[in-house]
Amino acid sequence: MATEELKQDAARYLMQTYTRQPLSIVRGRGTKVYDLEGREYLDFVGGIAVNILGHGHPDLVHAIQHQAAQLIHTSNLYYTEPQVKLGQMLVEHSFADKVFFCNGGAEANEAAIKLARRYSHDKYGAERFEIITMKNSFHGRTMATLTATGQDKVQKGYEPLLPGFSYVAFNNVEELERVVTDKTAAILGRDFPKLLGQMRQWFDWAHLYVWQALIMLDALIVWLLWIRMLPPPPPDAAPA
Ligand SMILES: Cc1ncc(COP(=O)(O)O)c(C=O)c1O
Repeated sequence: MATEELKQDAARYLMQTYTRQPLSIVRGRGTKVYDLEGREYLDFVGGIAVNILGHGHPDLVHAIQHQAAQLIHTSNLYYTEPQVKLGQMLVEHSFADKVFFCNGGAEANEAAIKLARRYSHDKYGAERFEIITMKNSFHGRTMATLTATGQDKVQKGYEPLLPGFSYVAFNNVEELERVVTDKTAAILGRDFPKLLGQMRQWFDWAHLYVWQALIMLDALIVWLLWIRMLPPPPPDAAPA
């Protein structure tokens, strides 16, 4: 089957939710991938940074084969040792206290939004539920995460969106200051390297002015959502 034929079948059988490149990839080795016609490409995408270990590394293949032969899936109704051990490894090598495993970015962000609301609800009451995100951000395609995504083209046609979201421009701390109120439960941003400086600025700012708001980072690089609760600021740092 050639790429053109595959494209036609995809148009016929698959929901057209993505604009795809006219390229069908059949196999990969290390950093290289190969298309149906046998052309070689250097894989700079890595499944949008999901497949950071590359293609077909023998150790990875062995680990997957070994686990598949041992046990495929059990659901979270039971304990499995690899899950607990991986959680322990992540906690011991990060600042996290606990880990929540899920299937992808949208689900991670859904969990973060729910956690922020639940934390604020329990600690400050039902009125404090608003979440601020960035204009032109992207956080996923579920109802909550497309509401969090500050782009009209992603939201159009799915209204009514979830209540309690507002949007500010990237790198605009003044705008952020105007939008934060005592109803703000969390600020959701992106942990992308070029934005780290901005995040640092936010941490400092939030520590001073939005005491105990949650800063949530949607991290493209490792598909982990890091949630950091700020320590209470000094008593004289409260906003007017
Ligand atoms: C920053 C960011 N967050 C969330 C998502 C959604 O992830 P998923 O497609 O795994 O649901 C994406 C997808 O590209 C993303 O780039």
